[in-house]
Amino acid sequence: MPPLHHHLRRQLRLRSRLAALRFKNVLVAAAFCLTVFYFLSRSESPSEVVLLERHMNSGPPSHPFTVVKSSVDWGDIEYRHPPREQLAQLPKPAGKGGLPRVQHRFGKESSAARQTREERRDAVLQLTRRCWDSYRKYAWKQDALLPLSKDGRGQFSGWAATLVDSLDTLWMMGLRDQFDEAVAAVAEIDFGLSSAPQVNIFETNIRYLGGLMAAYDLSGREVLLHKAIELGDLIYGGFNTENRMPVDNINFQAAMEGSGLLVEGNVVSASPGTLTLELTRLSQLTGDPKYYDAITRVVELFYRGQNQTALPGLFPMFVSMSREDVTTGGTFTLGGCADSLYEYFPKMHALLSGAHPQLAALTRGFMDAAKRYLFFRPMVPHNDDILISGNVNVDQAGVPNLDPETEHLACFVGGTFALAGRLFQSEEDVEVGARLTRGCVYAYKSFATGMMPERLNMIPCERDKPCMWDEERWVEERAKRPEYKPHLPKGFTTAKDPRYILRPEAIESVFYMWRITGDAEWQEAAWDMFQAVAKGTATETGSAAVLDVTVALPQLPLDDYMESFWIAETLKYFYLIFSPPDLISLDKYVLNTEAHPFLRPHP
Ligand SMILES: *[C@@H]1O[C@H](CO)[C@@H](O)[C@H](O)[C@H]1NC(C)=O
Repeated sequence: MPPLHHHLRRQLRLRSRLAALRFKNVLVAAAFCLTVFYFLSRSESPSEVVLLERHMNSGPPSHPFTVVKSSVDWGDIEYRHPPREQLAQLPKPAGKGGLPRVQHRFGKESSAARQTREERRDAVLQLTRRCWDSYRKYAWKQDALLPLSKDGRGQFSGWAATLVDSLDTLWMMGLRDQFDEAVAAVAEIDFGLSSAPQVNIFETNIRYLGGLMAAYDLSGREVLLHKAIELGDLIYGGFNTENRMPVDNINFQAAMEGSGLLVEGNVVSASPGTLTLELTRLSQLTGDPKYYDAITRVVELFYRGQNQTALPGLFPMFVSMSREDVTTGGTFTLGGCADSLYEYFPKMHALLSGAHPQLAALTRGFMDAAKRYLFFRPMVPHNDDILISGNVNVDQAGVPNLDPETEHLACFVGGTFALAGRLFQSEEDVEVGARLTRGCVYAYKSFATGMMPERLNMIPCERDKPCMWDEERWVEERAKRPEYKPHLPKGFTTAKDPRYILRPEAIESVFYMWRITGDAEWQEAAWDMFQAVAKGTATETGSAAVLDVTVALPQLPLDDYMESFWIAETLKYFYLIFSPPDLISLDKYVLNTEAHPFLRPHP
């Protein structure tokens, strides 16, 4: 009965909008009190955080716009495979205490420390402005900037990926005019047209949906929620399959017809595993449980399978959503293809205020197994106490073999361990997170350009034994590697992929370590990394990916590409490290895998 259905949905939306309105009034009042309190209690210039609150109430946008409805109403498709049972509802948090505190309790900063921090922050701001200005000038409304040819390129359906991905960064940096201009462009995006016949559900979810919702959470601009719902309904259409498991690629035409999509037999585990946070947040924002319902079945599948794999606690790199099999396979990694599956277990735990016990079990199970099987101490010249996340292949006989290869993508895990360590009150895991993060910082420092290669190999020490440098062993091990090159620093046996493509994961973990421990070591590491990366990637227009970071030429060989995650993630993390620690506090927000902050509901 479509009319009733429509009526219900309208009611739901109306109710959620009213709730949002009430919430906004409370916020306005709270921000006002905060501002007054601030000026009564201190006489210095206002902090960035108060400025952020003030942005929230500072009148209409500077760029007027009209909202253009997408040419397909994704919320109005008749699905061949609607949910069969009653919809799962968002769980209610138990108790009223909330989760344990995540961030360090920062004391008052000396004026010298503040001056240094602000100079560094301004350097990050200037670079971000340059990159944004170039995007605006040469690639406006396209997915990515080509920084060398000064042109733009499509990549993710042509919905202006860099523009949407950058919104919250612009807001946090106080680039208000740029933000408003970008929002006016968002109002015209047509999610009923895709430049590619297949829509990648993972990228669309983390970059576009995540970007829109975070920018809405920060700015309160209704048009962003409106567009997020349009797009969320398209992603929701990806569950229109016989077993209600999500597809990896949405066939745009079939999705529009509602006739049913064919779920793939084999996908990387991060693809279904990285829809959870965004779809949960969308249910929280709209009050409509359907998005959460869709994803909770995927969580259930991973929960049931966690102890049935060849490495109990971890999942194989490839899973089958068509056979609902997440246990068959012998390749295990925290790097590409799997990474954010694991990252989202503790983050979902945070977003749901600990109310879903399966996510606590998934988090603890993965962390225990990762410590046992994947992490190793590499043998390095000065015996630094660091950890590296490697890969494991389980052979026919069920024996796990460590492959001491890591990649930049795996560098997120230090931050995830520190965050989960705080959420589950395990200081031991915070310390493991610190050693993992130091491992990535070490890799940056070791190479001639101060940047870490995309993929590399080291030499593992034996577990639970002293780990001392042995140059002969390095010579032996490197001889077994055809990819070894004589100019590689001591301790490394390959730089299999020598590029640095503007990725965030290492600085992301440094950000978590700084916010969680308050140890100045991390701000210093971040500054070294920023200087190296800013210099190595520099172009006339901003920044470009580097083809080889292992040789320090005066001009590094560059790739004509600036991924949207450079502004969305990498520059944002640098900026936040040099901002007051209550700007995007980890006790208030949880960041998705594209660094988009979602407000954590407070019980
Ligand atoms: C998997 O094993 C862990 C540790 O023994 C346990 O806590 C968890 O509940 C198990 N998961 C399932 C689905 O049985």
